[in-house]
Amino acid sequence: MQVTIRKAEQLKALPDEANLGFGSIFTDHMFNIDYNPKEGWHNPRIEPYATISMDPATMVLHYGQGVFEGLKAYNTDTGNIQLFRPQENFKRLNSSCRRLCIPEIDEAFMLEALKQLLQLEKRWVPQAPDTSLYIRPTVIAMDPFLGVRASDTYRLYIILSPVGAYYAEGFNPIKIWVSADHVRAVRGGVGATKTVGNYAASLYAGQQAHEKGYAQVMWLDAIERRFVEEVGSMNIFFVIDNELITPELSGSILPGITRHSVIQLAKQWDLRITERKISIEEVIDAQQGGKLQEVFGSGTAAVISPVGEIGFADKLFTIADGKVGPMAQKFFDALTDIQYGKVEDTMNWIVSI
Ligand code: COI
Repeated sequence: MQVTIRKAEQLKALPDEANLGFGSIFTDHMFNIDYNPKEGWHNPRIEPYATISMDPATMVLHYGQGVFEGLKAYNTDTGNIQLFRPQENFKRLNSSCRRLCIPEIDEAFMLEALKQLLQLEKRWVPQAPDTSLYIRPTVIAMDPFLGVRASDTYRLYIILSPVGAYYAEGFNPIKIWVSADHVRAVRGGVGATKTVGNYAASLYAGQQAHEKGYAQVMWLDAIERRFVEEVGSMNIFFVIDNELITPELSGSILPGITRHSVIQLAKQWDLRITERKISIEEVIDAQQGGKLQEVFGSGTAAVISPVGEIGFADKLFTIADGKVGPMAQKFFDALTDIQYGKVEDTMNWIVSI
């Protein structure tokens, strides 16, 4: 399949890199490809960034049959544009597609198409420290139909957004709140996929957290309401008594690519790393006993995000005196050094465009 390219007649002015924020600025072009049962995925094209016109009955709007991914392009000191483990994102996109009854895509083709889009949009990859070009591949069900079934037609698109830190706090520790009343996902459901409904389901408790002054919700498992799952926008790690612990992938947790990278680095550094169930009681007991050394999140958007305070059962528990811990710092430095091409990529994670 050949990607056709139609360039924008007028290019937008580039934003101020000091104030990018997250996810509100979009580049000049996007990638589109359509699916129907007769032609399969067809008509791949790079076009000017534009609104999508759709029938009010379009299925994704009614039944949430949509999935997405998030990855980033980084500008190195030498002006190279590089991606971090993009093959993993397209693999996970396909795994989300399978769960949502969406036809799979050709992963290798998608990576090539993304590279072509990035070649065209190179000037949008910001250079300021800790900025990047966030890449959002998205697949949506396009049939105009109100019966509940899988759609026959789909649109896959990729949009690009120059971004700074995901959290207003930047790399400073954030406050997270454990929701006792709501759950994000349940085993057997779709929690392990990047489907749109997971994020809709998180909004209500997320708003409660914001009202209480917290940045995010830390979700517990849906059955026993005891075991820590994830933070919605990131996976979570605890350092207790020099052991690095992250909840095991239970089927309701997103298998984060940054999470996997942290685990691989930890193994390489001979750290004690365990993927297992960890209850909120264990976390609080460790904090009370002075054994909870650090908590941090991992994600594409969030990178490594230290947690300074946990709110649970109307009490506030402080971690590492509310400061950035050495382990969070070490993972942040190691990952960003690889992503921004400051060190040799011995893990074979980087793909240059
Ligand atoms: C990402 O980290 O790329 C995500 O998709 C999380 C999203 C909530 C910003």
